[in-house]
Amino acid sequence: MANDSLTITDNRTGKTYDVPITDETIRAMDLRQIKVNDGDFGLMTYDPGFTNTASTRSAITYIDGNNGILRYRGYPIEQLAENSSFLEVSYLLLNGELPSHQELESWVHGITHHTILHENIRKLMDGFRYDAHPMGVFVSTVAALSTFYVDAKRIRDADCRKHQIERLLAKTPTIAAFAYRHMMGLPYVYPDNELSYAGNLLNMMFRTTDKFGPDPVLEKALDVLFILHADHEQNCSTNAMRSVGSSESDPYSSMAAAAAALYGPLHGGANEMVLRMLREIEDIKNIPAYIERVKQREVRLMGFGHRVYKNYDPRAKVIKQIAYEVFEVTGKNPVIDIALELERIALEDEFFIERKLYPNVDFYSGIIYEAMQFPVAMFPVLFAIGRTPGWLAQWQELLEDDEQRIARPRQIYTGSGERDYVEMRKR
Ligand code: ACO
Repeated sequence: MANDSLTITDNRTGKTYDVPITDETIRAMDLRQIKVNDGDFGLMTYDPGFTNTASTRSAITYIDGNNGILRYRGYPIEQLAENSSFLEVSYLLLNGELPSHQELESWVHGITHHTILHENIRKLMDGFRYDAHPMGVFVSTVAALSTFYVDAKRIRDADCRKHQIERLLAKTPTIAAFAYRHMMGLPYVYPDNELSYAGNLLNMMFRTTDKFGPDPVLEKALDVLFILHADHEQNCSTNAMRSVGSSESDPYSSMAAAAAALYGPLHGGANEMVLRMLREIEDIKNIPAYIERVKQREVRLMGFGHRVYKNYDPRAKVIKQIAYEVFEVTGKNPVIDIALELERIALEDEFFIERKLYPNVDFYSGIIYEAMQFPVAMFPVLFAIGRTPGWLAQWQELLEDDEQRIARPRQIYTGSGERDYVEMRKR
């Protein structure tokens, strides 16, 4: 019997099976040999929400939730946030290594020169209702790109894939800004190739006169926020990207599905809930009473807790620092005082200590976005821009992985047994 194996005894039959263990994991298919009768389907695992199922091997992002560690391709998130840029991090996620000076220049040039949207896309966006939610517009427009770039169907062609990846990274900020301007009833501002990635987004969103120049501190802060959101291994939207991509859909359709998953309040919408909560608390003096309500399970402390992190979310630490730099420019968002005091009290409270509940990335991000004048409806769109390289890197990895097949889970059927059709007059 190998040491790295699991011995399973099926008490229904008394038979024993040895199942290999690799990387602290057993293969679900190894359980299928466990049967009572020869004709049986074999044993399955039941795992709603995939809480204990690895769907892939991946070399992109490493998370150690117990110790609050997040690394992209081995590089700690704190070092990338301090020293890198979003486009460099995108290159790293997609290519596995940091670029040389020349590689970065050509990468940035390629993305900068694909930012313009086809005029018919602009017209398509015009067709949305005057107050359309920018995330709905974003999801639909990303999907619509597949009708403009039909070559994108050649997903097995690495050069073609690279081209679509560049297009998606380049065009998401333009789509985001146009979705915002449409919602506000403002004329569109076209991309400016002289500006940085984040600077261009700020310009396309907020320019009202020729004099607008994005503030370098806000530009840098937005770039770091994008870095912090760039990938987070097999989260809900990445799983959607991989799942749809596994049927060999083009990247625009797959990414629209990923963005649709991000739209949900349990995923990309939590920072909005944090702002609502802080406004409801209204004053520092009301915090103890609110904490009491949390403990009585009347409400949840939004922006606290995480499925994976059972320690301080490393992204929240970086974001907290950025908040002060942003406030130097924008003036303080008054809810920050409530947030800080809430965090201080919660982290000293036995209820939160026992359950390992710490602030997550969303506890501070909404406060910063609000200070920078982004409306709440744009929060998930900003998250989507940041997550685009992660989705694309995971999609590319999926296509290069020989073990991957179309994503097709099993089920435990709980419906009726076979029955005969009943004529209408007898029902
Ligand atoms: N406030 C109060 N209690 C909480 C909170 C919270 N925010 N989060 C978890 N708990 C408690 C639960 O009541 C439970 O206690 P119990 O064991 O006594 O019943 C325990 O902590 C474990 O909670 P679960 O719900 O089992 O943890 P799960 O991993 O399923 O949920 C989640 C994680 C959804 C993030 C949760 O912590 C939560 O709802 N947080 C608030 C929403 C939020 O901030 N979401 C953003 C996540 S980050 C992101 O998606 C980018």
